[in-house]
Amino acid sequence: MPATEKSATDSSDSVTIHWSPNLSVGVAAIDGDHRALIDLLNALAAAVAGAGGHGDITLKLDELIARTEAHFRSEEEIMAREHYPEAGHHARVHEALLDEIRQFRSDHLAGTDIGPEITEFLKRWLISHIIESDKHLGGYLEGRGVG
Ligand SMILES: [Fe+2]
Ligand SMILES: [Fe+2]
Repeated sequence: MPATEKSATDSSDSVTIHWSPNLSVGVAAIDGDHRALIDLLNALAAAVAGAGGHGDITLKLDELIARTEAHFRSEEEIMAREHYPEAGHHARVHEALLDEIRQFRSDHLAGTDIGPEITEFLKRWLISHIIESDKHLGGYLEGRGVG
C-alpha cells in the first residue's frame, strides 16, 4: 500500500474517508467531483453501519451511482477532448467499477446483506483509482495547461 493511500484513509473511524491534499489530481473540477463522491461514500457507509434502514441504503447507493456515472462521463469527455492516450483503458476501469456497484445494488435489492464490505471495497477502489489512474490523467492535463 503506498504511503499516500494510508494517510488518505487513516482514521479512527474505519468507515470514513477524509479528504487530504495528497488526493488532489491538480484539476479543480475533478477534485471537486472526488470530494463529492467521498461525501456520498461516507453517507452510504453510515447507512450500512446501522444509521439507516434498507430504503436509506438504496437511496444512498442510487445517489452514489448517479454521481459516479456523471463523474466518469465528465472524465471521459475530458480525456477524449484532450486526446489522452490511455483514455480507452481508463474508461474500461470506470465501467468495471460501475458494474461492481450495480451488482451490490442488485444484491441489496434482492435482500442480501451487503454489509460493510461494500464500503470497504468502494473506499479502497476510489482511493486507489484516484492515486493510480486519475493522478496520471491529472499530470497529463496539467502538462496541457488544463487545470
Ligand atoms: Fe477515473
Ligand atoms: Fe475520478
